[in-house]
Amino acid sequence: MHRELEQCTIRRWRLEDAPSLAASANNRNVWLTLRDRMPHPYSLADAEAYVQQRLQDPTMPIFCIEVDDAAAGGIGLHPGDDVNRLTAELGYWLAEPFWGRGITTAAVKAIVQYAFTQLPLTRIEAYVYENNPASARVLEKSRFQFEGRLRKNVIKDGVVLDSLLYARLKDE
Ligand SMILES: CC(C)(COP(=O)(O)OP(=O)(O)OC[C@H]1O[C@@H](n2cnc3c(N)ncnc32)[C@H](O)[C@@H]1OP(=O)(O)O)[C@@H](O)C(=O)NCCC(=O)NCCS
Repeated sequence: MHRELEQCTIRRWRLEDAPSLAASANNRNVWLTLRDRMPHPYSLADAEAYVQQRLQDPTMPIFCIEVDDAAAGGIGLHPGDDVNRLTAELGYWLAEPFWGRGITTAAVKAIVQYAFTQLPLTRIEAYVYENNPASARVLEKSRFQFEGRLRKNVIKDGVVLDSLLYARLKDE
């Protein structure tokens, strides 16, 4: 996928993204909303390892959000397996200086369009921690439906939280 949008470009990761990725991702406010597998603090070595991983598995639909010629975030689909193989989980994050400009909503709409035209998927789902209304809003603006509250199913930064499950189907 390579999409030039009004305020950003969605494209494959490149080796030279590592320094700007590290600068964008080294942010506690970003980390607090994501899984613990994202390191914090986020070093240049973490960024280099991440980009290497992406380059080694180019078939995974996981992309860089480029803003102002720098890696400003990430967006990707993680396909399920076995009986869930037509479902993918959507994840995304954006560097804090760019929040509130509609960039992630545009990126989500673009990847959904890509997913349902280029990949064998019938459903895309996303899990939002209950304390992240901005992310829930991104999904609502992208025509995901709220399907339910998973009570106390995550622990993040020592706090047990509910997750909100959102999904969009191919035919919707
Ligand atoms: C969540 C995140 C991706 C949003 O990105 P963004 O580019 O700022 O999103 P957009 O500008 O497209 O839309 C944000 C919407 O949330 C709204 N919003 C922001 N803060 C809010 C709050 N505290 N309560 C309610 N709505 C809020 C904005 O007003 C906007 O909605 P609007 O267009 O109706 O006004 C970004 O904040 C981020 O990267 N956060 C850290 C990582 C993360 O949360 N990832 C998702 C994990 S599920």
